[in-house]
Amino acid sequence: MTAIYPDLEGKTVLVTGGASGIGAAIVRAFAAQGARVGFFDIDRAEGEALESQLSGSGQSARFFAVDITDIAALRKGIADLRSALGPIAILINNAARDDRHPALDVTPEDFDALMAVNFRHQFFASQAVIEDMRGLGGGSIICMSSISWLAGFGGMPLYTAAKAGILGLVKSLARDFGPDDIRVNAISPGWIMTERQIEKWLTPEADAMREDRQALKRRLMPDDIARLALFLCSEDASAITGQNHIADGGWI
Ligand SMILES: NC(=O)c1ccc[n+]([C@@H]2O[C@H](COP(=O)([O-])OP(=O)(O)OC[C@H]3O[C@@H](n4cnc5c(N)ncnc54)[C@H](O)[C@@H]3O)[C@@H](O)[C@H]2O)c1
Repeated sequence: MTAIYPDLEGKTVLVTGGASGIGAAIVRAFAAQGARVGFFDIDRAEGEALESQLSGSGQSARFFAVDITDIAALRKGIADLRSALGPIAILINNAARDDRHPALDVTPEDFDALMAVNFRHQFFASQAVIEDMRGLGGGSIICMSSISWLAGFGGMPLYTAAKAGILGLVKSLARDFGPDDIRVNAISPGWIMTERQIEKWLTPEADAMREDRQALKRRLMPDDIARLALFLCSEDASAITGQNHIADGGWI
C-alpha cells in the first residue's frame, strides 16, 4: 500500500527515461496520485505500451518520444509537454545507460556520448523548468545518481563519474534556486531489479554478492525508489533540499 500525498494531485510531472525500469515505476506512482504525468523515452514501443496500459486502468500519463542526449529535442519536448499538461512542477531526471566501458577503450567521442546520456541532460532539463517552477511558487527536482561511485565499482569510470558529478549539480542548484522554493535532491539507488538488470547482470553469483553486501537481504525493486521519489516531491519533504538520499538496503 503506497501513501497518498494529496498535494501531488494535479501537479505536472516530467519523468525522463520513463518507459521502463525505475522511470516507469515513477510514472505509475505519480499517475496513481492523480498527477499530470508526461514522460520522455527513446523506446517508443515501451513508452506507448505504458501510456495505453495506464489509460486502460483509468489513470493517465502522456508519452513523448524524446532522445534526451539531443538538447534541442529535449527543450522542444519540454515545451510540448508544458503546452499539453501545463507548467512543470516536478522534474525527475532519471534517464541513463549503465553500459560498461573499460577505461582503456574509451575514445573522446565515447566520453562525450557517455556524459550526454548520463549527465548533461540533467542540467539542461533542470534549466528548462526553472521558470515554470518560479511561476508556480516552487517545485521539486530529483536527479538520479547511484551508489556505484561510492561503492567503487570498476568497469564504468565515466558512468560513475557522471553519477558523482550529479551530486555537485544538486548541491549548486539547490543553493541557486532555494530562494524560489525549488527543492533539488538526489536519489542514489543500490541494485534495483529492473528488467534490464535482471536480463543483463543478475547471475546467481552476483545475487549472492548482493545479498552479502546489503544489510537488508531482499531484492530491491523499482517501487522502492518510486515511493522515495513521491515523498521527496511531496509537501511532507518541504524542508529537504540539496541532499543525497541513498536507498540501497544498507549496501554502503
Ligand atoms: N537499476 C539499478 O540498479 C540502478 C542503480 C543505481 C542507479 N540507477 C539509476 O536509476 C535510473 C534509472 O535506471 P534503470 O535501472 O531504471 O534504467 P533502465 O535502463 O532500466 O531504464 C532507463 C530508461 O531510460 C531510457 N533511455 C535511455 N537512453 C535514453 C535517451 N537517450 N533518451 C531518452 N530515454 C533514454 C531507456 O529507454 C529506458 O526506458 C538511472 O539514472 C540509473 O543510473 C539504477
